[in-house]
Amino acid sequence: METRPFGKTGERMPILSLGCQRLVDEEGCSEEQAVAILNTALERGIRYFDTAWIYSEGQSEQRVGLVAKHRRKEMWIATKTWDTSRDGARRQLEESLTRLQTDYVDEWRLHNVWGMDRLDAMTGPGGALEAMIQAREEGLVRFISISGHSDPQVQLEALRRFPFDTALVAVSVLDHFIYSFAEEFLPMAQYRGVGVVGMKIFGLRTLAHVADRALRYALALPLTTVIVGCSTMEQLEADLVVAESFTPMSGPERLEFFREVLPLVRPEGMPWKAVDWGDPVEWKPRKEPAGLFQW
Ligand SMILES: NC(=O)c1ccc[n+]([C@@H]2O[C@H](COP(=O)([O-])OP(=O)(O)OC[C@H]3O[C@@H](n4cnc5c(N)ncnc54)[C@H](OP(=O)(O)O)[C@@H]3O)[C@@H](O)[C@H]2O)c1
Repeated sequence: METRPFGKTGERMPILSLGCQRLVDEEGCSEEQAVAILNTALERGIRYFDTAWIYSEGQSEQRVGLVAKHRRKEMWIATKTWDTSRDGARRQLEESLTRLQTDYVDEWRLHNVWGMDRLDAMTGPGGALEAMIQAREEGLVRFISISGHSDPQVQLEALRRFPFDTALVAVSVLDHFIYSFAEEFLPMAQYRGVGVVGMKIFGLRTLAHVADRALRYALALPLTTVIVGCSTMEQLEADLVVAESFTPMSGPERLEFFREVLPLVRPEGMPWKAVDWGDPVEWKPRKEPAGLFQW
């Protein structure tokens, strides 16, 4: 599989990576299946595994940990803090390390920074970023990262405030058309040497019927790797086939694809860009939607 440099980390990553949010019971993925998917991913050359403290009350991290316990050196593990405060984030990191059965993570992210209020809380005095800097000094974390789906201007402002090593952002073909990370964020990330990981490749299932082209579209962007949210071995196999033989779409093919998916650029097709994409902890609409899709 093709590999690409990962920002200034000094590492190269294969273009296909695994998002581990869906390797959980609630997605119909048993522990045995999750472990098999993780091991197969490693055997087929995937190195990068993304999880988060908040996913399924820790079950995603625990399952990554079952494999990390034996194969830690082969894995690049990224996890995230949901808590905006320094002390809360530190507690989440300690829990993450226990669940992951490791004494360090390669990347630790500010999770889903959807608006300026959340960015202020996380990067301000007593915020989660302070815990990240301290954890990096202590060797618990190698690189500091941020993620976002909603408005690229929030992540651009984050880069002005702090030299994040990496970023995880939504780059599906649907995102091309509205609050586009590909158009607004990737050029600055490239200029600053920030390693970029793409997500929402299948638009949370909206693009499942055009999965191969959805993946080829994203892999052709100027980023390092993409995390695909597989919950079955069949999905992993399909994604590996595309990544192992990756060629970008031609100009006309890409334009035709844009025409085909344009009708899906609606709040119900891409809920992560809609005003009522809620806080997953309490599942309520955000107070400040940052001027996203009003329908
Ligand atoms: N803020 C953040 O940082 C954040 C937020 C969300 C997720 N993530 C990470 O991103 C990863 C990817 O999740 P996402 O939200 O970006 O979702 P996604 O990859 O756009 O969508 C994943 C869903 O697409 C469907 N699908 C259809 N064909 C597929 C194929 N060939 N391969 C994989 N999935 C296929 C599956 O649903 P069916 O099985 O129902 O068909 C799967 O659950 C997660 O695992 C997680 O690690 C990060």
